[in-house]
Amino acid sequence: MKKIVIGLLVLSLGAMALAACGGGASNSTGLDPVPAEYAGVTNPLGPDAASAGAEVFAANCASCHGEKGYGDGPAGAALDPAPKNLVEVAAQAGDDYLYWRINTGKEGTAMVAWKGILTEDQIWQAVAFIRTLK
Ligand code: HEC
Repeated sequence: MKKIVIGLLVLSLGAMALAACGGGASNSTGLDPVPAEYAGVTNPLGPDAASAGAEVFAANCASCHGEKGYGDGPAGAALDPAPKNLVEVAAQAGDDYLYWRINTGKEGTAMVAWKGILTEDQIWQAVAFIRTLK
């Protein structure tokens, strides 16, 4: 009887360790988790902001990310890591993820924090525009 109890204990500890590994820092999309400060925020301007966002994007982002967000802008070619294809990123990411990244940039890459350079509205406009890219 004692052996069975110990056996069960070992089994359940093993299962707990597995669960802990599986539920760790990475999520199913492979994107970094959105920090609490940004998690769940939604675009207050709605999808109509995309047309204004097209101008924001053309003026500030297309040089690296390309006009259509494919990551093929002329200034992006020499970068390591290269700008990602935003169509692929947007397919996996929520608005909160995009808004967070654009606000705070991405450490270790050429992606700067746009907070303070662009207004909050302009950043949401850019998010709305990225949503229209195919
Ligand atoms: C100087 C070149 C450059 C400019 C200008 C630039 N980006 Fe980036 N951007 C990058 C690079 C490089 C990355 C990092 C790619 C990676 O994740 O490996 C990046 C990452 C991103 C990401 C996150 C992608 C991810 O997988 O996490 C978003 C969203 C983004 N950029 C949007 C924008 C927007 C919107 C603008 C304009 C306001 C902009 N970028 C301007 C180079 C640039």
